Amino acid sequence: MTNNQSTDLLFEISQPGRRCHRLPACDVPVRQSLLPTDAVADAPPPLPELGEIDLIRHFVNLSKRNMSIDTNFYPLGSCTMKYNPKRHERLAALPGMANLHPLQSDDSCQGMLEMLWSMQNILAEIAGLDAVALQPAAGAHGELTALLVAEAFYRDRKEKQRTRVLIPDSAHGTNPASAAIAGFDTVSIKSTAKGLVDLADLTSKLDERTAVFMITNPNTIGLFESQIGAITKLIHDAGALVYLDGANMNAIVGVTRPGDFGADMMHYNVHKTFTGPHGAGGPGSGPIAVRGDLAPYLPTPLVVKDGTTFKLEYNRPKTIGRVRSFFGNVGILLRGYCYIRTLGPVGLREMTENAVLNANYLLALVQHALDVPNGNRCMHEFVASASKLKRTKHISAMEIAKRLLDFGYHAPTVYFPLVVPEALMIEPTETESKETLDAFAATLLKIIEEDGNFLHNAPYTTPISRPNDAKAFKEPILRWKA
Ligand SMILES: Cc1ncc(COP(=O)(O)O)c(C=O)c1O
Repeated sequence: MTNNQSTDLLFEISQPGRRCHRLPACDVPVRQSLLPTDAVADAPPPLPELGEIDLIRHFVNLSKRNMSIDTNFYPLGSCTMKYNPKRHERLAALPGMANLHPLQSDDSCQGMLEMLWSMQNILAEIAGLDAVALQPAAGAHGELTALLVAEAFYRDRKEKQRTRVLIPDSAHGTNPASAAIAGFDTVSIKSTAKGLVDLADLTSKLDERTAVFMITNPNTIGLFESQIGAITKLIHDAGALVYLDGANMNAIVGVTRPGDFGADMMHYNVHKTFTGPHGAGGPGSGPIAVRGDLAPYLPTPLVVKDGTTFKLEYNRPKTIGRVRSFFGNVGILLRGYCYIRTLGPVGLREMTENAVLNANYLLALVQHALDVPNGNRCMHEFVASASKLKRTKHISAMEIAKRLLDFGYHAPTVYFPLVVPEALMIEPTETESKETLDAFAATLLKIIEEDGNFLHNAPYTTPISRPNDAKAFKEPILRWKA
């Protein structure tokens, strides 16, 4: 069948009142009542006429332009693009897992329910908190869910005056966005010159209106909040809750636990901390963990164990309700579970140590040439600044990022966090070898030595060089054109 024949067929099927001659079993007027006449095309769409081989070449060549963690070093700070082991893909693809239907009865999918139940317990243990809900579909969704839990908690306690969420100015943009969507007012807390929470500013803004302090630890500058104990005590003394943005858990898993340093609730980015394919907004998984007295408000269903069987529990009177269809992104949770069970407690700690070691190694290699305003030690990532280079050689963070593409590297995150001017946020992750880090550092140092005017037009080797990002977002061309 040619393309035109198949589009003829589609056209024929979509014509109200016409009978579908080419489908033998179909002798009723097709879709007559379903499609309004003005929505029906009067001619087949002008699709390109191509043979299979041409189509295959087109898509294979497109796929070869795709940059991924499987093809290139991807030091995208904050997004944690670590390698996704292939054995997890194989396990997730097992028919007993991949072919399950979310509407199956509990007794017909006990294995999957056991995995989810076990994942709830493991994530609670790693967090040092009491209960876990797996539903949120990504980190930002976890933030929103936890803030809705906090809102229900205060409503129940009749503390209606708690309308504010305090957020450090170095936080990820999703923090204030989640707080606003959950109905809270947001208050920004300053960072000190060292990139940590300014305790004086926090104290001056903390009062009986404070519901939650959202803190990212390690923070987005790649620093551990050295005063975390004092900070969480201040918040608790004011009767408020501490929320930990757990996006950077890959720097502390197995070394310290959020519950132990005073967090009352947190989210995980399973896809970043325990691996899972992600990028460009998903699919992810952002389970939340909470302390015991917040557990009644968690979204339903939770997975519970009843004797020797596992079931989904919906009957939780104080729940905020469902936040996601079915049980969350089960496929990502499954991959995260494989990662955790493969490494075990000792391996997870080693993962953390290697993530921190790799970041510090890279930092040490480039620090003499690239300013790192917040110290010569970091956690899993560091934020360099191209400010001085921009002043002296007209080389901006964007120039460096673009030029790296010519050498086959994904660019680091740029211009975030906002508190560091001309920011380049570099996160190598634990899976990279010393050779890869050496080669990347050498390339970075070489680029810094290049001529500013030359860099201004980089990259030179990619199909598109300098797209107008704002225009592309506002006027995306999503259709094939002749
Ligand atoms: C610090 C921080 N918080 C929150 C998020 C949001 O997580 P997600 O992209 O899973 O929604 C990110 C994502 O990069 C992050 O880095």
